[in-house]
Amino acid sequence: MSIGLKGGRILLRPPREEDFEVIYRLWNDPEIYYLTDDAYWVPKSKEKFREFFKEFHLDGGRPGPGKQNAVFVIELEGKVIGDCGIDIDWRKKRGDVWLELLPEYWGRGYGKEILKILEDYARSLGLERLRAMVNGWNERSKKLFESVGWKLITEIPENGWFEGKWWPDYLFEKKL
Ligand SMILES: CC(C)(COP(=O)(O)OP(=O)(O)OC[C@H]1O[C@@H](n2cnc3c(N)ncnc32)[C@H](O)[C@@H]1OP(=O)(O)O)[C@@H](O)C(=O)NCCC(=O)NCCS
Repeated sequence: MSIGLKGGRILLRPPREEDFEVIYRLWNDPEIYYLTDDAYWVPKSKEKFREFFKEFHLDGGRPGPGKQNAVFVIELEGKVIGDCGIDIDWRKKRGDVWLELLPEYWGRGYGKEILKILEDYARSLGLERLRAMVNGWNERSKKLFESVGWKLITEIPENGWFEGKWWPDYLFEKKL
């Protein structure tokens, strides 16, 4: 049995070495890395990605003073279908949320369940708010945060360049 955070159909648990292949696939899925604007820096070779996976997923990255990266893989019925996390700023009692699912699992309500688990977890840690920055061209992600009652607190105009034009970024917030 895995140890982790359970909610609905989803289990969030710490990443393990054997998750490498699926996480490599996830982070190198072009649809995902263009949606999240991570294409330009995600290591494309397996060798380089393994270094990133070890540093970020297994060892929690290099968060800096007063900060911490809580990183999880997302499990559905024993299978890893994505990853997510909260970049915590303890001084501000705030966390920045990120999440991504393999495309074949989109649109089935898992995103909402994952956010609910992350919100409960953040509350249990004593955080006061969560935030998420969404690229203007990522309509599904924008809808996700709207659909679970996160508040759009800022729109930054012309902050991202995608498919030949400027898009805004949206900053969403959830008070816990
Ligand atoms: C963003 C993401 C995590 C959402 O998860 P999901 O499981 O697909 O989302 P859900 O099924 O819970 O749906 C949430 C809302 O998204 C919207 N949505 C679902 N399918 C959609 C579609 N095809 N087009 C537009 N919006 C859609 C709906 O409004 C839905 O709310 P509703 O059911 O109340 O109508 C997932 O699509 C993903 O991994 N995308 C790639 C990575 C990414 O963009 N991460 C977020 C970066 S900020």
